[in-house]
Amino acid sequence: MTRLDLFIARMVSQRACIDHAVALTADMQGPVFELGLGNGRTFDHIRAKVKKRDIYVFERAVASNPASTPTEDQLVLGDVFETLPMMLAKHGPVVSFAHADLGGHNLEKNDEFARAISPAIETVMAPGGIMVASDAMYFDRLVELPLPEGAVEGRTFIYQCPL
Ligand SMILES: C[S@@+](CC[C@H](N)C(=O)[O-])C[C@H]1O[C@@H](n2cnc3c(N)ncnc32)[C@H](O)[C@@H]1O
Repeated sequence: MTRLDLFIARMVSQRACIDHAVALTADMQGPVFELGLGNGRTFDHIRAKVKKRDIYVFERAVASNPASTPTEDQLVLGDVFETLPMMLAKHGPVVSFAHADLGGHNLEKNDEFARAISPAIETVMAPGGIMVASDAMYFDRLVELPLPEGAVEGRTFIYQCPL
């Protein structure tokens, strides 16, 4: 696969998993967490699909396209290692859907980061909540689900918090 193929596969897979996660959690009321705003493309997709749930976007330095920049109320500014525990203290384990795309180009570093941040993500999830990630995660309780149609093996990962 060329780098272009890999990039396209990640985008296609992100969309398929986000759509699947939104459908699986449609009856849940807890908020949605978007971890890593970046350009804001996945945030824009999530806000178009998620109705009647609060969306919080976690980012340490906002550099998104103005067309896909969260409102001040939606933005949780800072390092996720600090802001996830802060949001847990404020809201409890209520997240219906979390999407994490926090990595960069270094696959080894992404894996280390995923291992380190997994426990904090796990604690905020509501029973039945769905977590979609661009890297394999290291959860104790969340269970990996089969990918939905259209998603690409190894490009995205999907997990569910037990009921
Ligand atoms: C790959 S980009 C996200 C792209 C986004 N999904 C999109 O569609 O445009 C990753 C983002 O995660 C953010 N990020 C990485 N580590 C972080 C951390 N520890 N705390 C908060 N944000 C972080 C980076 O600043 C970057 O903007």
